[in-house]
Amino acid sequence: MLVEKNVPLQSLNTFHIVAKAHALVRIGSEADVRALLADPQWGPQPKLVLGGGSNVVLTGDVKPVVLKVEVKGMHLVGETAKAWIVEAGAGELWHELVRWTLAQGYPGLENMALIPGTVGASPVQNVGAYGVELQDRFESLDAIDLQTGKVFALNAAQCAFGYRDSVFKHGTVPQPGADAAATEHQNLGLKDRALILRVRLALPKVWKPVLGYADIEKKMAEHACPQPSAQQIFDWVCDIRRAKLPDPAVMGNAGSFFKNPTVTAEQCADIIARDPKVVHYHLDDGTVKLAAGWLIDSCGWKGKTVGQAGVYEKQALVLVNRGSGVDGLGATGGEVMTLARAIQTSVYERFGIVLEPEPVVV
Ligand code: EPU
Repeated sequence: MLVEKNVPLQSLNTFHIVAKAHALVRIGSEADVRALLADPQWGPQPKLVLGGGSNVVLTGDVKPVVLKVEVKGMHLVGETAKAWIVEAGAGELWHELVRWTLAQGYPGLENMALIPGTVGASPVQNVGAYGVELQDRFESLDAIDLQTGKVFALNAAQCAFGYRDSVFKHGTVPQPGADAAATEHQNLGLKDRALILRVRLALPKVWKPVLGYADIEKKMAEHACPQPSAQQIFDWVCDIRRAKLPDPAVMGNAGSFFKNPTVTAEQCADIIARDPKVVHYHLDDGTVKLAAGWLIDSCGWKGKTVGQAGVYEKQALVLVNRGSGVDGLGATGGEVMTLARAIQTSVYERFGIVLEPEPVVV
């Protein structure tokens, strides 16, 4: 086992924040995790799992041992009456998996093209775009327990997927109605306890396009194409994302910085009374989802900057590193978080809504 010391993390996080890992171990398989756990010096130390680094804000050098997941491979591993089952190593790039599945003739991931990050990070966040979330295509995953070295599989229910949420983001899984003490002992979450090794997806044999989103409908009208193929949707989603989201290779960012908040119908009516233009979507359970990008935009944040951290000009939901790539200089995690807190305060003061950050702050 090779433990690399003082490893620069700037190229390993998509915000391109300058920080170092005191120690970093590359994980190519479960054997690498077991070797680390068995090591008397490194085994007992706190650990941080890093995938594509597309959903973290580093606020300083990282003291826990960084486990850089590099498990590879993409295969068809089975089929059911309804679906092809495809398995991918956690270290594969998500977008490459989307491309590969389409090329093999297994559509279903096209709406989620160009989402940055790795396959292993996709269930943590339950990534999603243009009407499809990972949970809609998820079959199961293999993970390894970072205390015992035991490999275990989880199905979708066990992953407890929610909007940009899963069992991997929680120390405990909240159960509606359960008392807190019982929850703590019965429903342990997996935050910092498991490393995802492989993810299996179920891609429908009878494919139907998911077209409900306004941006996609606009493309259908522009191209006079009411029945697009999966490849066409893939190309459109790539175009749409390139037009409104910054490419992390050019300008550091972590995608949407805040979740779209959900409010009750009464809260929404109150906000509409104050600002009739608020962008909102009614959900099946009677609640209403608000567009966080619109809330931030209407507080005047587009293009604003704190130090080298800024709000992207074309999408107020995305915070960017304006100095990334310039001689290793750029925004610090502190600047990003100062900007994020200022945005939260102004949205709260104007709309009474607390925006919840999406990335993990380390
Ligand atoms: N809007 C504004 N001003 C802005 C940004 C947005 O007025 O600065 C308005 C838009 O005009 C639109 C609405 O807000 O009416 C929603 O914007 P958009 O369609 O761009 O989607 P979003 O809600 O901002 C979400 C996801 C994205 C995903 C897109 C498409 C979250 C937190 N974000 O963004 O996911 O690609 O929908 O499905 O749910 C990510 O998670 O990193 C991400 C990019």
